[in-house]
Amino acid sequence: MGISNKHIVLGVSGGIAAYKSADLVRRLREHGAQVKVVMTANAEQFITALTMQAVSGQPVHLSLLDPAAEAGMGHIELARWADVVLVAPATANFIARLTHGSADDLLNTLCLATEAPVMLAPAMNQQMWQDPATQENITTLKNRGVGILGPGVGDQACGETGPGRMLEPAELVDAVFAVFASGALEGDKVVVTAGPTWEAIDPVRGITNLSSGKMGYAVAEAASEAGAQVVLVSGPTCLAPPENVRLVSVCSAQNMYDAVMSEVGDAQIFIAVAAVADYRPVSAAQEKIKKHRDTLTIELVKNPDILSAVAQRDNCFTVGFAAETSSIEKHAREKLEKKGVDLIAANKVGDGEGFTADDNALLLIDRGEMRSLPSMSKPQLARILIQEISKRYHAKSPAQDSRRAHR
Ligand SMILES: Cc1cc2nc3c(=O)[nH]c(=O)nc-3n(C[C@H](O)[C@H](O)[C@H](O)COP(=O)(O)O)c2cc1C
Repeated sequence: MGISNKHIVLGVSGGIAAYKSADLVRRLREHGAQVKVVMTANAEQFITALTMQAVSGQPVHLSLLDPAAEAGMGHIELARWADVVLVAPATANFIARLTHGSADDLLNTLCLATEAPVMLAPAMNQQMWQDPATQENITTLKNRGVGILGPGVGDQACGETGPGRMLEPAELVDAVFAVFASGALEGDKVVVTAGPTWEAIDPVRGITNLSSGKMGYAVAEAASEAGAQVVLVSGPTCLAPPENVRLVSVCSAQNMYDAVMSEVGDAQIFIAVAAVADYRPVSAAQEKIKKHRDTLTIELVKNPDILSAVAQRDNCFTVGFAAETSSIEKHAREKLEKKGVDLIAANKVGDGEGFTADDNALLLIDRGEMRSLPSMSKPQLARILIQEISKRYHAKSPAQDSRRAHR
């Protein structure tokens, strides 16, 4: 767990505390995060883009209307790239602009365009902080889900004392850590399946599919970040398992079924992301099949349905993925009812979408509302999915919540 390889957009606006932003970048990178810096025009009066470029090891983004940005849409690229947007320091002026949905510079625009959590570290004179206008803006932003970090209280650059100091870089790093460790599934056991299965035809050949395992591994990581004890039952993939996740490697659908059944007994949540083969050869040849005949018929038999089997047990909140090539919503709803699961995450596969891609989009379908999650990186998507699962699981299982509270 932690922030290793997490994508952090650090916004810097024009306040005195901008001199601390360079140290903040350095500390975030020491923890393995990738940091891209976006500066307002006024921030450049306080710290140079050259300094921020040197400490971040990346070009600094300064302009909204930049034809050199990827496809001329730097704000959208950055908004999608970010796992979290942290603005430190956040001036009174920036806070006011964000409150009013202003999109007149790169930093404001990307804050509006991102699905990632946005956090602000206000830094200003104590009177500016306590002004009713700033306080009302802060309340509005908090209500919209923007994270407000600090400010601290103490001596200020202007010689006054009071609330308005930017939190120290180490405290801001801790706050970024906390984003990825929400605690929403603290104490719960989550079993996740991922990857394809391999159904042997003979010792060297088999039936498999194009699942890369990326989505399932991202879901396992997001569940672990949310505090769960995670078991990842994975078919063959080329991926390294996330930290703090127990990997159970399997090959065939039957292996996966056995492994899942021995793990779900004491689990609270089961998330079936694996692309499990529906059928397997009736028997696998002991020797490599030779090319003697012009045609070869392989008789297939149905594999056990892992998702239905877990859904019937009734002890687990079950989530199934539905990979469809067409009529996604219709097929997903059928799967929801037929298998008796709690939530279906449906996605389109084929034509480069879904399986091997780094990005994905999902349609979340349960017996209530439907939510569409637009295309974004699989880790980002996984984090939102885990939040949605956790909300529904806690709403369904208040008894388990109260048991947990007494543990
Ligand atoms: C020397 C100096 C220091 C300033 N420090 C702060 C500050 O710490 N916090 C703040 O909110 N504004 C501060 N300001 C005012 C901002 O620079 C000003 O509101 C500016 O428009 C902010 O631009 P930006 O939000 O687009 O970056 C300061 C101004 C000056 C001249």
